[in-house]
Amino acid sequence: MPRILLLYASTEGQTALIAERIAHTLREKAHSVDMLPADTDPARLDPAVYDAVMVGASIHYGRHPAYLRTLIRRHRDALAARPCAFFSVSLSAGGPRPKPAAAQRYLDKFLRQTGWQPQLTGSFAGALKYSRYGPIKRRVMIVFVGLGGGNTDTSQDYEYTDWDAVERFANTYAQSLKPA
Ligand SMILES: Cc1cc2nc3c(=O)[nH]c(=O)nc-3n(C[C@H](O)[C@H](O)[C@H](O)COP(=O)(O)O)c2cc1C
Repeated sequence: MPRILLLYASTEGQTALIAERIAHTLREKAHSVDMLPADTDPARLDPAVYDAVMVGASIHYGRHPAYLRTLIRRHRDALAARPCAFFSVSLSAGGPRPKPAAAQRYLDKFLRQTGWQPQLTGSFAGALKYSRYGPIKRRVMIVFVGLGGGNTDTSQDYEYTDWDAVERFANTYAQSLKPA
Protein backbone atom coordinates (compact mmCIF):
# COMPACT_ATOMS: atom_id res chain seq x y z
CA MET A 1 0.00 0.00 0.00
CA PRO A 2 1.67 3.30 -1.06
CA ARG A 3 2.32 5.61 1.86
CA ILE A 4 1.46 9.21 1.04
CA LEU A 5 2.47 12.40 2.84
CA LEU A 6 -0.21 15.07 2.49
CA LEU A 7 1.01 18.47 3.67
CA TYR A 8 -1.27 21.49 3.82
CA ALA A 9 -0.74 25.18 4.51
CA SER A 10 -4.03 26.78 5.53
CA THR A 11 -4.69 30.08 7.31
CA GLU A 12 -8.48 30.08 7.69
CA GLY A 13 -9.09 26.36 7.30
CA GLN A 14 -10.40 25.84 3.75
CA THR A 15 -7.23 24.22 2.41
CA ALA A 16 -7.28 21.93 5.45
CA LEU A 17 -10.86 20.90 4.56
CA ILE A 18 -9.83 20.22 0.96
CA ALA A 19 -6.83 18.18 2.16
CA GLU A 20 -9.16 16.18 4.43
CA ARG A 21 -11.45 15.37 1.51
CA ILE A 22 -8.45 14.29 -0.60
CA ALA A 23 -7.09 12.15 2.26
CA HIS A 24 -10.50 10.49 2.64
CA THR A 25 -10.68 9.72 -1.11
CA LEU A 26 -7.13 8.34 -1.18
CA ARG A 27 -7.81 6.15 1.86
CA GLU A 28 -10.94 4.79 0.16
CA LYS A 29 -8.57 3.65 -2.61
CA ALA A 30 -6.53 1.74 0.00
CA HIS A 31 -3.69 4.27 0.20
CA SER A 32 -2.16 5.10 3.56
CA VAL A 33 -2.13 8.87 4.15
CA ASP A 34 -0.34 10.96 6.78
CA MET A 35 -1.93 14.40 6.70
CA LEU A 36 0.13 17.10 8.42
CA PRO A 37 0.18 20.90 8.58
CA ALA A 38 3.15 22.16 6.57
CA ASP A 39 4.34 24.24 9.53
CA THR A 40 4.88 21.10 11.61
CA ASP A 41 8.30 20.99 13.31
CA PRO A 42 10.67 20.43 10.31
CA ALA A 43 12.48 17.71 12.32
CA ARG A 44 9.25 15.66 12.18
CA LEU A 45 8.86 16.04 8.44
CA ASP A 46 10.77 13.66 6.20
CA PRO A 47 9.27 13.25 2.72
CA ALA A 48 11.98 10.65 1.99
CA VAL A 49 10.20 8.05 4.15
CA TYR A 50 7.07 8.24 1.96
CA ASP A 51 6.28 6.76 -1.45
CA ALA A 52 4.47 9.86 -2.65
CA VAL A 53 3.87 13.46 -1.56
CA MET A 54 1.00 15.90 -2.06
CA VAL A 55 1.09 19.53 -0.92
CA GLY A 56 -1.78 22.02 -0.79
CA ALA A 57 -1.57 25.72 0.06
CA SER A 58 -3.76 28.80 -0.03
CA ILE A 59 -3.06 32.25 -1.46
CA HIS A 60 -2.95 35.37 0.71
CA TYR A 61 -1.96 38.71 -0.79
CA GLY A 62 -0.94 37.06 -4.05
CA ARG A 63 1.41 34.44 -2.61
CA HIS A 64 1.69 31.03 -1.10
CA PRO A 65 3.31 31.10 2.35
CA ALA A 66 7.04 31.82 2.46
CA TYR A 67 7.69 29.00 4.95
CA LEU A 68 6.28 26.53 2.42
CA ARG A 69 8.68 27.72 -0.26
CA THR A 70 11.56 27.13 2.16
CA LEU A 71 10.26 23.66 3.03
CA ILE A 72 9.88 22.62 -0.61
CA ARG A 73 13.36 23.88 -1.48
CA ARG A 74 14.84 21.98 1.47
CA HIS A 75 13.28 18.70 0.31
CA ARG A 76 13.59 19.26 -3.44
CA ASP A 77 15.68 16.13 -4.10
CA ALA A 78 13.34 13.82 -2.17
CA LEU A 79 10.34 15.36 -3.94
CA ALA A 80 11.95 14.99 -7.37
CA ALA A 81 12.35 11.25 -6.72
CA ARG A 82 8.64 10.66 -5.89
CA PRO A 83 5.27 11.08 -7.57
CA CYS A 84 4.09 14.44 -6.33
CA ALA A 85 1.03 16.66 -6.60
CA PHE A 86 0.43 20.27 -5.66
CA PHE A 87 -2.82 22.18 -5.32
CA SER A 88 -3.37 25.87 -4.78
CA VAL A 89 -6.47 27.38 -3.15
CA SER A 90 -7.64 30.92 -3.85
CA LEU A 91 -10.60 33.12 -4.70
CA SER A 92 -9.08 33.69 -8.13
CA ALA A 93 -9.60 30.00 -8.88
CA GLY A 94 -13.37 30.31 -8.35
CA GLY A 95 -16.17 32.26 -6.77
CA PRO A 96 -18.38 35.07 -8.05
CA ARG A 97 -15.70 36.56 -10.36
CA PRO A 98 -13.14 33.84 -11.06
CA LYS A 99 -9.78 34.76 -12.56
CA PRO A 100 -8.32 31.39 -13.61
CA ALA A 101 -5.34 33.02 -15.34
CA ALA A 102 -4.36 34.72 -12.04
CA ALA A 103 -4.79 31.43 -10.14
CA GLN A 104 -2.52 29.72 -12.66
CA ARG A 105 0.06 32.51 -12.32
CA TYR A 106 0.18 32.03 -8.51
CA LEU A 107 0.74 28.33 -9.00
CA ASP A 108 3.35 28.71 -11.74
CA LYS A 109 5.24 31.34 -9.73
CA PHE A 110 5.40 29.07 -6.68
CA LEU A 111 6.78 26.18 -8.76
CA ARG A 112 9.28 28.48 -10.47
CA GLN A 113 10.45 29.88 -7.13
CA THR A 114 10.89 26.45 -5.58
CA GLY A 115 12.21 24.61 -8.65
CA TRP A 116 9.68 21.87 -7.92
CA GLN A 117 8.00 19.99 -10.76
CA PRO A 118 5.09 17.96 -9.37
CA GLN A 119 3.48 15.58 -11.87
CA LEU A 120 -0.04 16.79 -11.05
CA THR A 121 -1.20 20.30 -10.19
CA GLY A 122 -4.61 21.82 -9.51
CA SER A 123 -6.22 25.11 -8.51
CA PHE A 124 -9.33 25.08 -6.36
CA ALA A 125 -11.71 27.82 -5.35
CA GLY A 126 -11.49 28.58 -1.63
CA ALA A 127 -13.87 30.32 0.73
CA LEU A 128 -14.60 33.67 2.26
CA LYS A 129 -14.69 33.13 5.99
CA TYR A 130 -15.65 36.48 7.47
CA SER A 131 -16.35 34.76 10.80
CA ARG A 132 -12.64 33.83 11.07
CA TYR A 133 -11.21 37.27 10.24
CA GLY A 134 -10.21 39.83 12.83
CA PRO A 135 -11.45 43.41 12.34
CA ILE A 136 -8.52 44.53 10.14
CA LYS A 137 -8.57 41.48 7.88
CA ARG A 138 -12.36 41.76 7.59
CA ARG A 139 -12.05 45.35 6.42
CA VAL A 140 -9.31 44.45 3.92
CA MET A 141 -11.47 41.64 2.55
CA ILE A 142 -14.57 43.81 2.22
CA VAL A 143 -12.57 46.17 0.00
CA PHE A 144 -10.76 43.40 -1.93
CA VAL A 145 -13.93 41.36 -2.47
CA GLY A 146 -16.14 44.39 -3.09
CA LEU A 147 -13.84 45.58 -5.91
CA GLY A 148 -14.33 42.20 -7.58
CA GLY A 149 -18.11 42.29 -7.19
CA GLY A 150 -18.13 39.52 -4.55
CA ASN A 151 -20.12 38.99 -1.34
CA THR A 152 -19.48 41.70 1.25
CA ASP A 153 -22.27 40.80 3.68
CA THR A 154 -20.03 39.77 6.57
CA SER A 155 -22.86 38.18 8.57
CA GLN A 156 -22.12 34.89 6.83
CA ASP A 157 -19.29 32.85 5.29
CA TYR A 158 -19.19 31.77 1.64
CA GLU A 159 -17.71 28.55 0.28
CA TYR A 160 -16.89 28.30 -3.42
CA THR A 161 -14.91 25.04 -3.51
CA ASP A 162 -15.96 22.65 -6.26
CA TRP A 163 -15.88 19.39 -4.31
CA ASP A 164 -16.37 17.27 -7.44
CA ALA A 165 -13.20 18.83 -8.88
CA VAL A 166 -11.38 18.03 -5.63
CA GLU A 167 -12.52 14.39 -5.84
CA ARG A 168 -11.45 14.14 -9.49
CA PHE A 169 -8.01 15.48 -8.55
CA ALA A 170 -7.66 12.92 -5.74
CA ASN A 171 -8.78 10.09 -8.02
CA THR A 172 -6.36 11.11 -10.78
CA TYR A 173 -3.51 11.12 -8.26
CA ALA A 174 -4.57 7.77 -6.78
CA GLN A 175 -4.61 6.21 -10.25
CA SER A 176 -1.12 7.51 -10.98
CA LEU A 177 0.37 5.70 -7.96
CA LYS A 178 1.63 2.19 -8.46
CA PRO A 179 0.71 -0.31 -5.73
CA ALA A 180 3.75 -0.69 -3.41
C1 LIG B 1 -6.19 38.46 3.84
C2 LIG B 1 -6.51 37.64 2.64
C3 LIG B 1 -5.84 37.85 1.43
C4 LIG B 1 -6.17 37.10 0.30
N1 LIG B 1 -5.52 37.34 -0.86
C5 LIG B 1 -5.87 36.66 -1.99
C6 LIG B 1 -5.26 36.96 -3.23
O1 LIG B 1 -4.34 37.77 -3.34
N2 LIG B 1 -5.71 36.28 -4.34
C7 LIG B 1 -6.71 35.34 -4.28
O2 LIG B 1 -7.08 34.78 -5.29
N3 LIG B 1 -7.29 35.03 -3.08
C8 LIG B 1 -6.91 35.66 -1.95
N4 LIG B 1 -7.49 35.37 -0.75
C9 LIG B 1 -8.51 34.32 -0.69
C10 LIG B 1 -7.98 33.02 -0.05
O3 LIG B 1 -7.07 32.40 -0.91
C11 LIG B 1 -9.18 32.12 0.24
O4 LIG B 1 -9.96 32.74 1.25
C12 LIG B 1 -8.79 30.73 0.68
O5 LIG B 1 -9.97 29.96 0.83
C13 LIG B 1 -7.97 30.72 1.97
O6 LIG B 1 -7.65 29.39 2.25
P1 LIG B 1 -7.30 28.91 3.75
O7 LIG B 1 -8.60 29.03 4.52
O8 LIG B 1 -6.88 27.50 3.61
O9 LIG B 1 -6.22 29.80 4.24
C14 LIG B 1 -7.17 36.09 0.37
C15 LIG B 1 -7.83 35.86 1.60
C16 LIG B 1 -7.51 36.62 2.72
C17 LIG B 1 -8.23 36.36 4.01
